[in-house]
Amino acid sequence: MHNRVVVTGAAGFIGSNLCEGLLERNYLVRGIDNLSMGNLDNLEDCTNSERFEFVEEDVRNNEKMNELCADSDVIVHLAAYKIPRYGNATDTLLINHQGTKNILDAARQGSKKVVLASTSDVYGKNPKLPFSEDSDLVIGPSTVSRWSYAVSKIYDEHLALAYQDTYNIPVSLIRFFGGYGPHQHLTWWGGPQSVFIGAALRGKPMEIHGDGSQTRSFTYISDHVEGIIRIIESERANGEIFNIGSTHEITILDLAKTINRLIHGNSDPLIQFVPYKSFTGKPYEDVMRRIPDISKAQRLLGYSWKVQLEDGLKRTIAWQRLVEDRKHE
Ligand SMILES: NC(=O)c1ccc[n+]([C@@H]2O[C@H](COP(=O)([O-])OP(=O)(O)OC[C@H]3O[C@@H](n4cnc5c(N)ncnc54)[C@H](O)[C@@H]3O)[C@@H](O)[C@H]2O)c1
Repeated sequence: MHNRVVVTGAAGFIGSNLCEGLLERNYLVRGIDNLSMGNLDNLEDCTNSERFEFVEEDVRNNEKMNELCADSDVIVHLAAYKIPRYGNATDTLLINHQGTKNILDAARQGSKKVVLASTSDVYGKNPKLPFSEDSDLVIGPSTVSRWSYAVSKIYDEHLALAYQDTYNIPVSLIRFFGGYGPHQHLTWWGGPQSVFIGAALRGKPMEIHGDGSQTRSFTYISDHVEGIIRIIESERANGEIFNIGSTHEITILDLAKTINRLIHGNSDPLIQFVPYKSFTGKPYEDVMRRIPDISKAQRLLGYSWKVQLEDGLKRTIAWQRLVEDRKHE
């Protein structure tokens, strides 16, 4: 039984929900975050617990990571930068590489298990669906900076598996598919669902990048947290890669229409299509379809996703409404 868990990226979307889930199951949890993209409000339910400690720190500080992970049994490494949609790729590449190396080095002191967050983006443009864990990773040209995110995570996956072979530490890799739910970041960083809900609540147009025919399989946050905890707790997960997410595929346009219906009933949605070039100023490539094969997680972990999209969206809209109202109090 792993009792002491370190969660990096704890003040972010998945991290804060995971900390809550771990505390409900009686773990001792130390959350680390430098608050660059996270928010302490996300941890307000955790900070009441005596079994929770928050440390504001940067995962690029290797001495601090050694110190903060020393008394843990397992480290869930979530702190990372994502697709540099509006920014440059340097942070994504360096934070993801340096942070993961430091966490793996910290885990070497005492053979701690590392659960590393990867992403469905690593499958890139592979046209063969659904993606299974041994599918090819088909990445576009280096001149398209959005691929820096997938490349950083592919590198991290390789580094983790190499550390396992060289230093005998157990590692598990999770490829998450589009999460949504309470504590999601309210900008594009959090994904289209959070931006669409925000726009619909304010009566503004929902901005769709491209023509909206690209698909995703959106996963409610409790289904991500359940997958992570099963992976923490299962020895069978050691050395394995898992797709964790929903298999319900939906186009971005239909997602926008669904959100509009849940907020405004049958009135026509306000939608503005935004060409990729206009927000990047550079070449951009989107992933046109994305669905996971989750049979490996089902077989080895007994995992399946549970929350239907409309149900999850209703809960997320209720949360986002509260946050928006609080802002205007
Ligand atoms: N949300 C998803 O659906 C999804 C999908 C695929 C992969 N992932 C991966 O899961 C992980 C968590 O994603 P999320 O959606 O919760 O992101 P998030 O941005 O909400 O959370 C990440 C947290 O890491 C923190 N962080 C960033 N750089 C840091 C640093 N140098 N030191 C310490 N803390 C730092 C941020 O402040 C933030 O709180 C990431 O590794 C991400 O790549 C998430």
